[in-house]
Amino acid sequence: MPEKLLCASSDVSETTAKICELEGVEIGVIRHKGTVVAYRNVCPHQGGPVCEGLKMPKVCVEFDEERRPLKQSFDTDEMHFVCPWHGWEFKIETGEALGDPKIRLNRYKVIERDENIYVEV
Ligand code: FES
Repeated sequence: MPEKLLCASSDVSETTAKICELEGVEIGVIRHKGTVVAYRNVCPHQGGPVCEGLKMPKVCVEFDEERRPLKQSFDTDEMHFVCPWHGWEFKIETGEALGDPKIRLNRYKVIERDENIYVEV
């Protein structure tokens, strides 16, 4: 598959996705656990700009035996994009929707080389 230049490596952070345009398609690029991941910036629900949503950690809730919440914490090892239109969440590492792992963001293969980020298209 041909590689296309997306942006400079220095443009990609771990805090928010950089939105790049490639041949009329928006692609969100972010560093996650030392790896660069890139997804088409289109939510599989209704087409919202999913990569522009909040980046939030997984919420973990412990319940008592009667299913009452006891404690809430955040797991920063699993970060999510929260789509700004209706709040669907997707794992940044895999693109899977939290509500249904069969639904995924459209992922690109990323190559980081010579201080630049390329994607296969
Ligand atoms: S368009 Fe993303 S949650 Fe609806």
